[in-house]
Amino acid sequence: MEKKIQAIRGMHDLLPEDTYRWQIVEQCIRTVVSCFGYQEIRMPIVEYTDLFQRSIGEVTDIVEKEMYTFQDRNGDKLSLRPEGTASCVRAAIENGLLHNQTQRLWYQGPMFRHERPQKGRYRQFYQVGVEAYGMPGPDIDIELIQLTNDLWKKLEINELKLHLNTLGNLNERAKYKEELIKYLKKFKEKLDEDSIRRLDSNPLRILDSKNPETQNLIEDAPSMLSFLGKDSRAHFNFICNELESLNISYLVDTHLVRGLDYYSHTVFEWKTDLLGSQGTICAGGRYDGLVSQLGGQDVPAIGFALGMERLVSVIDKIGKRIENLKFDAYFILVGDEAKKRSFKISQELRDKVPGIRLITHCGDNSFKSQFKRADKSGAKLALIMGEDELKNGEISIKNLREEAEQISIKIENLVDFFIEYKKNKEGEESNEFVS
Ligand code: HAM
Repeated sequence: MEKKIQAIRGMHDLLPEDTYRWQIVEQCIRTVVSCFGYQEIRMPIVEYTDLFQRSIGEVTDIVEKEMYTFQDRNGDKLSLRPEGTASCVRAAIENGLLHNQTQRLWYQGPMFRHERPQKGRYRQFYQVGVEAYGMPGPDIDIELIQLTNDLWKKLEINELKLHLNTLGNLNERAKYKEELIKYLKKFKEKLDEDSIRRLDSNPLRILDSKNPETQNLIEDAPSMLSFLGKDSRAHFNFICNELESLNISYLVDTHLVRGLDYYSHTVFEWKTDLLGSQGTICAGGRYDGLVSQLGGQDVPAIGFALGMERLVSVIDKIGKRIENLKFDAYFILVGDEAKKRSFKISQELRDKVPGIRLITHCGDNSFKSQFKRADKSGAKLALIMGEDELKNGEISIKNLREEAEQISIKIENLVDFFIEYKKNKEGEESNEFVS
């Protein structure tokens, strides 16, 4: 037998039961972002490798060891996108979206990183990203945090904690880096291998080292907060004060530095304890220098991305069951004549009953096996058309979910029956989240 071909490690199929749950969450996200005035942008999945090297940074895990990079048939060096911010900036510059105007954009789709797969960490994963351009003040920082907070409220998730930090501006960060290197060099022999390698190239990343001994050293390291100038401090204080007045609780986490190089000033992550080591659901911050670094004007920017797999896992963990799609009816057909008549009847129902979810049986199965399939499909009603029904110009309707007597109605009354039926179900169907 031929060897079976399997999915690539760290890349998963999303089966119908899950896609439906994802769609509900995605719909909720779409509603929230559009209520805040954000518009969707769709970028290619493949870009020139150079784009990611220049934006995410040469000395980052992503660029050093996680990108899926290849040469295409022209010899161009391309990469599957490991994240969306770089592509979004590239697209916004290229399409002239940033000339003396503000932009509120969002995107969704798969990202690719060759990481070590584990629960909550995949090689193909899905992000929803939100990016805002042209707004230098802290008001937009608050807006994005409010937006995420609204989303958690809408999804009825209370288990996320906001971690907040500031990385200051370029000069402030440069001074801070110098002091941090000086401090860490004193303990060089105690640092782990990765941290030693980063000491000169990317010392800030040492702050979020997972190595316990390095973590101990970092406890007493100088803090970025004491290197902030007047403006940067005011920016950060404004955010903290407004979050307090909005009752959005947060934790100032001076070790929060993010794994991508383009950040400045505000950085934030929404984390949960429910998912073990992969507890960051949503993360982002300001990246004021990136647009000009990639050849655009000097346009301030801020954004975040959330991981869909992790978000759906949190919803599962807290026991929020997202009701699966309910079909209204399964059309059981006995005999050739019934099959022929069913095409027109089904068409009429789909044309005249808005939103009807109807499965019409296909295949030559017995009544019994069709009935079993109707039950398994989750449909609420079985519509039955056999010889007797055809003779009387009727359809029998059996409720598959509740105790009720089977009824028969005239075929010409079927549309009215379902219009009434859908009207009565309206309230039930809008309530998609069930505790
Ligand atoms: P990031 O922190 O690399 O930021 O990723 C954002 C989120 O994507 C993470 O918090 C996590 O939920 C999810 N994620 C990342 N890697 C994986 C993975 N291997 N498997 C599953 N989920 C994952 C960015 O990507 C930035 N572009 C965010 C941003 C937008 N900053 C400004 N604008």
